[in-house]
Amino acid sequence: MKALVYKGARSVAVEEVPDARVQEPTDAVVRLTTSNICGSDLHMYEGRTSVEEGKVLGHENMGIVEEVGPGVTFVKVGDRVSVPFNIACGSCRNCTTGWSSFCTRTNPTEGMDGAAYGYANMGPYDGGQAELLRVPHADFNLLQLPKGTEHENDFTMLSDIFPTGWHGVVLSGMQPGDRVAVFGGGPVGLMAAHSAFLQGASEVYVVDKAPDRLRLAESIGAVGVDFSAGDPVEQILERTGGHGVDRGVEAVGFQAHDAYGEEHPELTLDNLVNVVRTTGGIGVVGVYVPQDPGLDEPAKADRVGWQYGTFFTKGQSMGTGQAPVKRYNRQLRDLIITGRATPSFIVSHEVPLEQAPDAYEKFDERVEGWTKVLLKPAS
Ligand SMILES: NC(=O)c1ccc[n+]([C@@H]2O[C@H](COP(=O)([O-])OP(=O)(O)OC[C@H]3O[C@@H](n4cnc5c(N)ncnc54)[C@H](O)[C@@H]3O)[C@@H](O)[C@H]2O)c1
Ligand SMILES: [Zn+2]
Ligand SMILES: [Zn+2]
Repeated sequence: MKALVYKGARSVAVEEVPDARVQEPTDAVVRLTTSNICGSDLHMYEGRTSVEEGKVLGHENMGIVEEVGPGVTFVKVGDRVSVPFNIACGSCRNCTTGWSSFCTRTNPTEGMDGAAYGYANMGPYDGGQAELLRVPHADFNLLQLPKGTEHENDFTMLSDIFPTGWHGVVLSGMQPGDRVAVFGGGPVGLMAAHSAFLQGASEVYVVDKAPDRLRLAESIGAVGVDFSAGDPVEQILERTGGHGVDRGVEAVGFQAHDAYGEEHPELTLDNLVNVVRTTGGIGVVGVYVPQDPGLDEPAKADRVGWQYGTFFTKGQSMGTGQAPVKRYNRQLRDLIITGRATPSFIVSHEVPLEQAPDAYEKFDERVEGWTKVLLKPAS
């Protein structure tokens, strides 16, 4: 089969690799109809993770079940499914309490709970930027979708970023009527803004510097805040009569940078602590890493010096981590079916798998208008 393979920093290629196949009785194999490129893939693409060369990338997958193992009971060949990016066993302590993103069994990497497709440190699993994908524990992991092709570009957001944006808002402790600030207007930040409105936010600010992303935020009723035009905290304080916001979502991660492009991993955390009111909450879904091979000392990434003193003094709370997709994806699917949610508003490009290397380059450079790329391996 054809697959997008990681070849080293800023180098990916579409190559012929062995077909994904059933390896365990509880596996299914899915033929991909859509597989998205994610901002998380860019951390790997830029050489900022320890992902190994030869890995097939792609954790935002959906498609049609091609084959099932003898231990798969409910999922059938021909089913249309969304594949959560988390690979979970369904029966460990974390899975049974709703934390499928921290499954204690599926990741053999020492010290790591939680597994994913095609991702650094998340286990030996290949991704779905390919024609076929092996899905472990298929009955537990796969989400059924209505047959056909309707809502394809909305449903494809169910594997990761729609639940992740939703989770960021939940982690922030948002209540209906709250004002929310989302840092990062990439796909995840835009999904957080969409989710905040669906959960009853009275006002949503989206901070970024990319004009096209700020325009998209405004298209759903959020207020775009351009951090290259001045301190985003001051801009939001000014617009809120000095009150700031009740809740904040971090959707940038450790590669947060200033208006000149220089990276400061603490920048958005500091901004959030300063813009969220006393006793307010912050949900961090942007990724932070304990090791960054892009630094002269990779372990330096583990120590981010941020305004913890102010955070404590303001009595704020914070939740972090990879999103447990299964906790939300069924409900979000139904919001799509009934027309209440339309996460496809962020889609900018749909391209065949062969064009993935070019799409990676454009998305990585945040070329104007490249917001969210959907690969269509079946086309
Ligand atoms: N927790 C999870 O489960 C999970 C899931 C998916 C993605 N992620 C992470 O979420 C983050 C965002 O993903 P994405 O796909 O939207 O990526 P992206 O790279 O497309 O978007 C990040 C955006 O942040 C903006 N930005 C950079 N510095 C900023 C600053 N100082 N203030 C405000 N905005 C700033 C960039 O201009 C960019 O538009 C990444 O770190 C990704 O790895 C986490
Ligand atoms: Zn993703
Ligand atoms: Zn588990």
